[in-house]
This record gives sequence, structure tokens and C-alpha cells, in this order.
Amino acid sequence: MKLFQEYEMKGLRIKNRVVMPPMCMYKATSNGIANEFHYTHYSTRAIGGVGLIIFESTAVSPEGRITGNDLGIWDDEHIHGLKKIVDACKAYGAKTALQINHAGRKSTVETCDILAPNAIRFSEDYRVPTELTVEQIKKLVLDFKKAAQRANEAGFDALEIHGAHGYLIHQFLSPLTNTRTDQYGGSLKNRIRFLKEVLEVVKAVWPDEKPVLLRVSASDYEQDGIDASQMVQIIHEIRDYIDIAHVSSGGLLPSKVNAYPGYQVPFSEKIRNECSIPTIAVGLIKEADLAEEILSNQRADLVALGRELLRNPYWVFNTAAKNNDDGYIPSSYKNAF
Ligand SMILES: Cc1cc2nc3c(=O)[nH]c(=O)nc-3n(C[C@H](O)[C@H](O)[C@H](O)COP(=O)(O)O)c2cc1C
Repeated sequence: MKLFQEYEMKGLRIKNRVVMPPMCMYKATSNGIANEFHYTHYSTRAIGGVGLIIFESTAVSPEGRITGNDLGIWDDEHIHGLKKIVDACKAYGAKTALQINHAGRKSTVETCDILAPNAIRFSEDYRVPTELTVEQIKKLVLDFKKAAQRANEAGFDALEIHGAHGYLIHQFLSPLTNTRTDQYGGSLKNRIRFLKEVLEVVKAVWPDEKPVLLRVSASDYEQDGIDASQMVQIIHEIRDYIDIAHVSSGGLLPSKVNAYPGYQVPFSEKIRNECSIPTIAVGLIKEADLAEEILSNQRADLVALGRELLRNPYWVFNTAAKNNDDGYIPSSYKNAF
């Protein structure tokens, strides 16, 4: 099966096409440090045979957390805990990426002021953010840079910039959440500026041989919001800075999304074809047959299984064994088959 074929990108060799997408666990203590829970959670998926594990949304600054229990990477003290988990995952044959993020107006952290392109709140359940000054924007760009440096020190094989789901980068990209009149708002070029500046500084410190992933929402599911064609345009603008697009959708506004198995795959296929970029498809992919269809029909290069891997951390070796490939079963577990 294509699902179990190796994938190579720059210096990264992944043993199969299965990705664990970033999923917040809300288990860090208030200082954002990774602990035993994260160690067990991620190393279990590595033992299970996942090719690439993308660690959950990890905040580049304290006010950039989604909740007070998010992982952080805004201080050197965060490196050690993450490195321990990265080393364990590697020992079990998985490759690792860190998703770095700033939540912008979607932060629910009570102890910090929340920041966004404009003082427009997400919904009535959220606080009104403070509109970012240009000086604050420049500082945030540096926060992403330092986060990338620390992620490299922790030993991650790849870095994912979170540009999706209505968090800060996406808030800048979409005209529905960015009504600024300075160089960061208005035209598409201006709305891309923050992302571009982040990618530029990240690129300067992130090793060339390690891939940079960008997670995107290919549709805002709203009139006048970003759609797949606009996302193609956006990716064209920053194509030189990224190696893989991780194609998701939604999250900008509390919009209704009709989700069904593979519902985001057409976005992945379009971006892959029109931007000539490798993609990860994600979204209710639970069955090997669907994953195989996506990969074999070249609709994505890798497939991510989120909630399925929460339910079943051993999905990869169970699926491989069902397809007569017992190479993924850890030797200690072979008696069970
Ligand atoms: C518990 C949970 C936490 C999530 N946290 C993140 C996150 O930190 N970053 C992110 O980009 N997406 C996050 N997501 C979205 C997933 O990465 C994935 O795109 C989504 O679950 C759809 O894939 P699935 O149907 O295979 O679960 C989260 C999803 C879940 C269920």
C-alpha cells in the first residue's frame, strides 16, 4: 500500500505516510512546560507506528496560548521537556514536528491582554482584543523566530507554522478579521505581510535541511472570506518559504461546517496541483481505504488522522497487520497477533 511507503522531503525521511496532526491536550501547567502526560501521549503514538507526529499548538508567547494549559515555547525553560519527548519518539522510529502558534483574539487566557489585527472579538463568549500596534507586530514576528530556534534545539525534525483555524496568522490573512488600513491590512499582499515576515525570520534560523510546514484553512465558509482559490494565491506568494502545506479549513468565525469523511481533501488536491507543493490531507480520515485512495490518486502526499489516533494509538500497526505487513508490530507485542 502507498500508505506504508516511505516519504522523503529534504533531510526528513518518514517511514510511512501517516501523520498525527497537532491536537491540543490542555495538560500543561500554567507555565507551558511539557510533562509526563505529553511524554506518554506522544511516545505511545510513536510505538504505534505513526510516521510523523506533529506536536500540538505550542504558544510563541504567553498571551498567544489558546488556554492556560497549552504548551509553550516562549522561554528556554520549555526546551528540555519537549526534547525528552522528541528523543523518545525518535527512538521508536517516528519523526516529529512542532506546531508553533499565536492564538490572537481566540486566546482565553485570563491573566493576559489578548491581541489581534483589530479590536473585534470572536464571539460574545470571547473578550475584545487590543488592536496590535506595528511595534507589537514586530515583536510577535521575533517571538516566532525565537520559537523556531528553540524548536530546533529541542531536536524537532520539522516545524509547522499554524496559519489556520482562526488564530493570529489566519486573522491577518482573512478580510473578515483584518480591517486594518496600514501595511498589514487591505490588499491581499498586505494581509499576507505578517505571515511573510514570520516565514522570513523563521527561514533565517531554521536549518535548510529540515522542512517547514504551513497549516492553512482553505475556506472560511463565509461570504467574502478566504476560499480555496484565494488560498492558492496566498500560497503562491509564500511558496519559497514552505515545503509542505497542511490543508485544513474553518475556525475563523463560529461558522457551520458540513464535515464528512475526506471533506477537506478537494482543498488539498487543488493546492497540491495549482501550487506545485506537497500536501497533507486531513479531516475525518479514519479508514485505510480512504487514506489509500487519497494518496494513490495523488490528492495528497501524506494523510493525517486526528481523532482516530486519539481513539486508537495503534491504528498504524493494526492496519498494517490487516494488510499482511507485520513489520510495524513492535517485537514485544508480536505474541498478540
Ligand atoms: C482535541 C483536538 C485538539 C486539536 N488541536 C489542534 C491544534 O492544536 N492545532 C491544530 O492545528 N489543529 C488542532 N485540531 C484539529 C486537528 O488537527 C484535525 O485537523 C481535526 O481533528 C480533523 O481531523 P480528524 O477528523 O482526523 O480528527 C484539534 C482537534 C482535536 C480533536
